[in-house]
Amino acid sequence: TILTLDFGSQYTHLITRRLRDLHVYSEMLPCTQKLADLDWKPAGIILSGGPSSVYEEGAPHVDPAYFDLNVPILGICYGLQEIAYRSGKDNVVAGVTREFGHADLKARKVDGHVDRLFDGLENEFKVWMSHGDKLAKLPEGFHTIATTPNSEYAAICHESKHIYGLQLHPEVTHTENGTKILENFAVKICGAKQNWTMANFVDQEIIRIRKFVGDGQVLGAVSGGVDSTVAAKLMQRAIGDRFHAVLVDNGVMRLNECEQVKTMLSEHMGINLTVADASKEFLDGLKGVTDPEKKRKFIGGKFIEVFEEEAKKIEAAAAKTDRAGPVEFFLQGTLYPDVIESISFKGPSATIKTHHNLALPQRMLDGQGLKLIEPLRELFKDEVRDLGRQLGIPHDLVMRHPFPGPGLAIRILGEVTPERVEMVRQADHIFIGMIREWGLYDKISQAFAALDTSKAVGVMGDQRAYEHLIILRAVETTDFMTAKAFPFSHDFLNQVSTKIVNNVKGVCRVMLDITSKPPATIELE
Ligand code: XMP
Repeated sequence: TILTLDFGSQYTHLITRRLRDLHVYSEMLPCTQKLADLDWKPAGIILSGGPSSVYEEGAPHVDPAYFDLNVPILGICYGLQEIAYRSGKDNVVAGVTREFGHADLKARKVDGHVDRLFDGLENEFKVWMSHGDKLAKLPEGFHTIATTPNSEYAAICHESKHIYGLQLHPEVTHTENGTKILENFAVKICGAKQNWTMANFVDQEIIRIRKFVGDGQVLGAVSGGVDSTVAAKLMQRAIGDRFHAVLVDNGVMRLNECEQVKTMLSEHMGINLTVADASKEFLDGLKGVTDPEKKRKFIGGKFIEVFEEEAKKIEAAAAKTDRAGPVEFFLQGTLYPDVIESISFKGPSATIKTHHNLALPQRMLDGQGLKLIEPLRELFKDEVRDLGRQLGIPHDLVMRHPFPGPGLAIRILGEVTPERVEMVRQADHIFIGMIREWGLYDKISQAFAALDTSKAVGVMGDQRAYEHLIILRAVETTDFMTAKAFPFSHDFLNQVSTKIVNNVKGVCRVMLDITSKPPATIELE
């Protein structure tokens, strides 16, 4: 196991991500972690980057005991500066020019060979730099193994102690050969085994969850989306019926969606699920609301109200049993890209964190003293899908396109009425059904039908029609931050258009949205 000590860099998680990709198990702990409190011996240690300056008062410093452990150490950015600062307070200074972005790294050859850290690589490649401070001189016993035009000490090494320092960030994809450098360190230099799999993650998480929850009970909202389903299944594996999932029917779900989610989670996956049907309350509250932000706010607020009601009922029922302790935890399917604030050394734990930094159930957490559990918080979307497969969740669910919390309400341009919800539901059902039939679903990142509530003229069976418009949207994206329209064939589009107009009452035209993001967003509102 490689131990990564986190000094609060926004990139620290990427270190563990890269190591996981290499099948090397790594654990990330705050940099304040004392060696004496660790009950296992790491094969190697990585000191991450961080936002502080080592020479500032109050800057974080690592327990010196790690340096006597006699295992290889790799310092990245702040980590490098920490290594240098230990052996001389004047070894690190503020750089005259800060260095952000690409730099050309040149690995130094000794006797015709580059250092082991750069084994198997060209001796010149592009790396990513992001630092203000730099080394003023080499710490004692070290030598330079690579330079950039701006950094005389871009990479350094202490031969006999196997301590390495990198000014560059090997964990970001902008650094060419970055993963190879981490592999050389973890596998060649530390001798770490490449036998870690997602199955191990499941086992470890289950142990962690059980330890954290004790005999307590956990509440969690599910939507049928990948993240909440995977998080719920993991909880169910860990604590069985002491996990209570709640699905809120907000009246703006897709055709048969609540039923399907209920069958899947409760009957096929054995999750203890309550469905709260609040569709009337939601649709009543949406009457007359046309502003997209107001729709979002109303739905978000109502969701918490309904959820709170359910939580109280579950708690009251739980209090009557003597099987388990109080309901004191709340499950959230937060993924790493959702984590705005880096898990700094100030945070209590990497995977399981009490509640700050959270929008949705804040009031609930505060009001009821709930603690937050976020078992997916270190994972990226593709890893969550892997985890879902590992947990036996069916392919269709694991590969499901995202669906926004405010549901179809933000896919109806203008006021939401039950009739309009029905139209968009039918059209979406036809569109997605055909996408599946044509084998396109997994090639598209997100697809849906929306309803334009203005009207256009048509002619149907010799009659003049004056009806609504359906807008189809399908995008390809990896991160949902930028996206481009999926290139359907004309044949496909003709067939969808015909089927929608023939089957969806109140609709006489079908439009295709081909705008990319930016400038458009993926959703229409
Ligand atoms: P946009 O429209 O911002 O969408 O380009 C990016 C991704 O986010 C989803 N989305 C939402 N998800 N609540 C959600 O849970 C929302 O209010 C919301 N708005 C957009 C959208 O479906 C897409 O996947």
